[in-house]
Amino acid sequence: MSALVLVAYATRYGSTQEVAEAVAATLREGGLEVELQSAGEVRSVEEYQAVVLGTALYMFRLHKDARRFLTRHREALSKQPVAIFATGPFNNDEKEWQGVRAQLDKELAMFPWLTPVAQEIFGGKFDPAKLRFPYNLVPYLKRLPASDIRDWTAIRAWARSVADKFRHT
Ligand SMILES: Cc1cc2nc3c(=O)[nH]c(=O)nc-3n(C[C@H](O)[C@H](O)[C@H](O)COP(=O)(O)O)c2cc1C
Repeated sequence: MSALVLVAYATRYGSTQEVAEAVAATLREGGLEVELQSAGEVRSVEEYQAVVLGTALYMFRLHKDARRFLTRHREALSKQPVAIFATGPFNNDEKEWQGVRAQLDKELAMFPWLTPVAQEIFGGKFDPAKLRFPYNLVPYLKRLPASDIRDWTAIRAWARSVADKFRHT
């Protein structure tokens, strides 16, 4: 019987959900049985053999649904293999990516019981026209150009490596 994996995502504008869908599809191609759910709607994780949590980063923090997911399901997650990805950077500037990696490390350090089997940052998607209150009032954000630097090849390659890890843990 193949392992049942949960891919949970925390999103505001939907781009992290699309990445989670690509991760889920790749895990399925790797022979795993996968359920995809919004992190805020997950009631229990006990029935899964492994979990992927994907979260957008906002104002240097994990999306609140991701923080709540980790807090709420701590007991089960501390016994399961967990892989984490975060979406964020708007451009391919290496310094920015280093900063975002440090952000993610710092945020995950708030959950010291969590030892992810894999952890990755992916570029994000940004559309100033879709900003909602209060961010639609921030001139710096309104002036940024729309961008989408999600690297689907890197996303699928990461998901394949996660499938390998899940199969061997
Ligand atoms: C107001 C605002 C704040 C953001 N803060 C961060 C941040 O602190 N770190 C980061 O890496 N990305 C940040 N981002 C980029 C988002 O994480 C990125 O756009 C992501 O793709 C959004 O995911 P979603 O469409 O699933 O909500 C921010 C974006 C906005 C609009």
